[in-house]
Amino acid sequence: MAKASAPKHILVIHGPNLNMLGRREPDTYGHTTLADIDGELKKLGPQLGLKVSTFQSNHEGAIVDTIQKAVGNLAGVIINPAAYTHTSIAIRDALILLAVPIIEVHISNIHRREPFRHHSYMADVATGQIVGLGVNGYYLALRAMAELVGR
Ligand code: DQA
Repeated sequence: MAKASAPKHILVIHGPNLNMLGRREPDTYGHTTLADIDGELKKLGPQLGLKVSTFQSNHEGAIVDTIQKAVGNLAGVIINPAAYTHTSIAIRDALILLAVPIIEVHISNIHRREPFRHHSYMADVATGQIVGLGVNGYYLALRAMAELVGR
């Protein structure tokens, strides 16, 4: 019998202040906590034939370090860089190193908000973006990732 291949590994990265989801500006970000989101992603992953790991940091360098360590070990990345979306060339450059599909997620619609949120340093290195669909955007991103990387 053919040996089942190992599930493809998807890393989900959450940027600064997303650890405060549930308490942070609920009118904009809703009531779901980060633990709820990560739990759902880890349940959904195996249903899609994927292994999901999650990482959150409030520190730009820690996010860069995590991406660098993942080079060669991942099938895809889902990232909500949060405020670093609009400022971080360092995270952008690290993402390019990965050479795997990248989906950028934003809970809110950054294009309907303040002008400084309209620009994303990740947008043109990402395979695609999901914005403004609430935390559902993460689950949609994982489903899209399953299609992108195959099972
Ligand atoms: C966010 C949008 C960013 O502008 C903001 O700084 C965040 C969250 C979102 O998910 O809607 O922290 O990335």
